[in-house]
Amino acid sequence: LDSKVNMNVWEKDTFVNYKKNLENVKIVKERLGRPLTYGEKILYGHLDNPHEQEIERGVSYLKLRPDRVACQDATAQMAILQFMSAGMDKVATPSTVHCDHLIQAQTGGPEDLARAIDINKEVYDFLGSATSKYNMGFWGPGSGIIHQIILENYAFPGALLIGTDSHTPNAGGLGQLAIGVGGADAVDVMADLPWELKAPKYIGVKLTGRMSGWTSAKDVILKVAGITTVKGGTGAIVEYFGDGVDALSCTGMGTICNMGAEIGATTSVFPFNKSMVDYLKATERSAIADFAQLYHKELLSADEGAEYDQLIEIDLNTLEPYVNGPFTPDLATPISKMKEVAVQEGWPLEIKVGLIGSCTNSSYEDMSRAANIARDAMAHGLKAKSIFTVTPGSEQVRATIERDGQLQTFLDFGGIVLANACGPCIGQWDRRDIKKGDKNTIVSSYNRNFTGRNDSNPETHAFVASPDVVTAFAIAGDLRFNPMTDSLKSADGKEFMLAEPKGDGLPSKGFDRGQDTYRAPPADRSTVEVKISPTSDRLQKLTPFKPWDGTDGKDMPILIKSLGKTTTDHISQAGPWLKYRGHLQNISNNYMIGAINAVNGEANNVQNVFTGKWDGVPETAIAYRDQGVRWVVVGGENFGEGSSREHAALEPRYLGGFAIITKSFARIHETNLKKQGLLPLNFVNPADYDKINPEDRIDLVGLNELAPGKNVKMVVHPKDGAAWETELSHTYNSEQIAWFKAGSALNRMAELHRE
Ligand code: F3S
Repeated sequence: LDSKVNMNVWEKDTFVNYKKNLENVKIVKERLGRPLTYGEKILYGHLDNPHEQEIERGVSYLKLRPDRVACQDATAQMAILQFMSAGMDKVATPSTVHCDHLIQAQTGGPEDLARAIDINKEVYDFLGSATSKYNMGFWGPGSGIIHQIILENYAFPGALLIGTDSHTPNAGGLGQLAIGVGGADAVDVMADLPWELKAPKYIGVKLTGRMSGWTSAKDVILKVAGITTVKGGTGAIVEYFGDGVDALSCTGMGTICNMGAEIGATTSVFPFNKSMVDYLKATERSAIADFAQLYHKELLSADEGAEYDQLIEIDLNTLEPYVNGPFTPDLATPISKMKEVAVQEGWPLEIKVGLIGSCTNSSYEDMSRAANIARDAMAHGLKAKSIFTVTPGSEQVRATIERDGQLQTFLDFGGIVLANACGPCIGQWDRRDIKKGDKNTIVSSYNRNFTGRNDSNPETHAFVASPDVVTAFAIAGDLRFNPMTDSLKSADGKEFMLAEPKGDGLPSKGFDRGQDTYRAPPADRSTVEVKISPTSDRLQKLTPFKPWDGTDGKDMPILIKSLGKTTTDHISQAGPWLKYRGHLQNISNNYMIGAINAVNGEANNVQNVFTGKWDGVPETAIAYRDQGVRWVVVGGENFGEGSSREHAALEPRYLGGFAIITKSFARIHETNLKKQGLLPLNFVNPADYDKINPEDRIDLVGLNELAPGKNVKMVVHPKDGAAWETELSHTYNSEQIAWFKAGSALNRMAELHRE
């Protein structure tokens, strides 16, 4: 039970920690005196302090020690830059970086990849060299999509992973608790800080029976999304169980978990089962499969009688294929009703493009089933009527389907095989078949179909379905087609029906790894230079923020008093700014440009209190900072809701901000501000928000006595009239106060590592 089993084939010094996890679970079980769900076992098995951690679902914040961190190339840039600024020698937790988001689909795999390598050279050079320097694994462009690589190489039952991408839960198909986070969380774990997660609630999904015919794993989650809607999983882990689980393939379970992100779930997970054993063996990890079997009952499945906060039951015998959309993944229409609904709703009936693959549905099984459907059509003299694209999820899948013939089938069928990367799924698609603004329909086996996501055309009606249904749709070219009941006309005019899809779950000849796209960190990292060009406008080295100078805030101007909702999009806009996500100075030029100034109701127009000049928010902040003046922002309720984007906290710190004073904060943003060394404070009396005039000056007094639970005194100096005093509350604990004093959480970690 305490043998040393490697976590994966790439790292020789990381081992599966079941023994320790089980000890923790036993401690917690004794304390709680109740059976645990599988998800609870994984989480509690990774607690930083199982003896003292408060545990109440939906209430307490768990401090956890994940086994691993994974970053995709877009979010990795700022995460690694921040990590570097902590001055540590290497990451404290095994970590990998995956180059998948920056490859645009244009003409096909090899050309698209070559172009991306050229355009993104400086980003890839930076990530490649920084991963070598700080002891991380690097999966270069062309290796595949982060979640497929994780499933194939790193996921295993009972592990806890955080990843800087929303579809990280994909690894739940291999019994791992895999949670999507922002870059700031990844940095914490890389730098040895425990990771905080609000103790989730649990939604149990009981699967009974067995799927058949045109129904596939995708339809389970399309059905679940229809039941729960896009918000139904918020704050919860979706845990599958029941006899229906046994008939699913590991990658099929991955698809289901992947799309759990579409209902807002923290993550989704399947209990350890036979399909996982088969998949682990097929991916060169028999030792983990054997080891997991020893821990099956106690650690890798739910206890008898474990309680769920909500229960859903799905009978796989009667489940039919679903087509979800347009514009939202929870608008679920069973395929038998699609004909009627599509006409009634006026959705464009002609299918312009069918897209299969992506991180959601690009397993060997998915590809084999889709290729079988394509072969069937070709045997009747038909090819794809719609444009048809295939995105292999990894180089391993691509090389294997090339060897086994499915790839050639797709090409013969008229398909385009794109690079092993996100491509159209993230909007990296140079779509040419229609003009922007043309109303049209596309169908994909991806996970998200929000307006404009794939091709940035708000008139594109994007639907999500299984790869089987997408392929059938591409043959018929019509949204009203139901392969279960409708016939097609063959090239010689005969009516025929497509045969039910069939395909191998795993390749009988084993996987072919294809090209070698992984780079391990070198044994001697001392001579590695991290490559950042000083003239780059996309990447910039971060200098650690200065520690707090020990003085109170005096006479500080209010940079902006924002009116109404202030989301992370108002604070740090995305879109075109994303290309600067690795360059703090450049991206800071978007600070609060979307927020509405309470004085004039305008965005990005504030007055410099010293010069009287009206200017943009970032320009005014820079003017204050360069004069050595600290400033504050005043905001309303739930300030910073939206994403976990750490730039929304890095930018005000970089621009010289001192405190953000609001009626209330979105929790993640509040924590991010604390991590960057800013003071997030709340009006004890919310009416003070109205009393404050943007021309007032602010003192924050007694900061040397800042302590948990103790309010901070604020003195407001109106332009005309007498000063008044009020109190501000905060949620700092003593550890976080140390962050503030050190200048940031990372500075604090660096201090601790030096001690
Ligand atoms: Fe990439 Fe789309 Fe998955 S963007 S990570 S393929 S959800």
